[in-house]
Amino acid sequence: MSAPSPFPLTPSHIPVIAIDGPSASGKGTVAQRVARQLGFHYLDSGALYRIVALAAERAGIEWGDGDSLATLAATLQIVFEGDDIFLHGENVSTVVRSEAMGKGASEVAVHQALRSQLLNVQQIFRREPGLVADGRDMGSVVFKDAEAKVFLTAGSQVRAERRYKQLIEKENHAILAHVLADIEARDARDKSRASAPLIQCDDALFLDTSQLTIDEAVEKVLQHYRHTN
Ligand code: CDP
Repeated sequence: MSAPSPFPLTPSHIPVIAIDGPSASGKGTVAQRVARQLGFHYLDSGALYRIVALAAERAGIEWGDGDSLATLAATLQIVFEGDDIFLHGENVSTVVRSEAMGKGASEVAVHQALRSQLLNVQQIFRREPGLVADGRDMGSVVFKDAEAKVFLTAGSQVRAERRYKQLIEKENHAILAHVLADIEARDARDKSRASAPLIQCDDALFLDTSQLTIDEAVEKVLQHYRHTN
């Protein structure tokens, strides 16, 4: 898997803001904006699991076969360029962000062998002047020593409505009840798995965005980060 220079692996003096939370909580949008405002790098860790799901499907590897997924992940050449994601030079941004790959990601993400394989890949994103990382285990596993941790969430109905709107814009078709059922199934899988389940860290700021605009959520994360400095 291609990534910037592997040394040093975890330079702990470089600040990290770890934003974890359930599906469609808005953490991706908030994390990107916080990164932009601070001039920090951004890691969309979910994209890595999505890419593995896609590459496995193409290679004929079952999403349930953790060891083969880990072996496959070690061979993948992934490049993030702005909003674009390249796998072995091919722009896979659209398919990687599809609902099918979101489901695939949550299935491949249960395997500890794969999670271990992706650990260093994620830590290598910690570069000067800082990193904003979003996912499920940024604060609990990957960047345990993060300067600021945020658990960003919203009610499942609100999240389903947000995801439904995105799907209508993107794919012109969606059924709200199905979107809600998918989100609840993904929440249950992410929270109940044995490896790195989605949890709120004790030292994380709890941020429910059900009643917040994106700008308000961004501001609260920035305030939390400034407060920890
Ligand atoms: O966009 P959305 O929040 O729906 O999904 P995502 O952040 O792209 O993550 C897709 C799936 O990857 C999640 O449902 C998790 O199962 C898994 N994931 C994970 O296990 N650990 C991470 N750090 C990030 C994502």
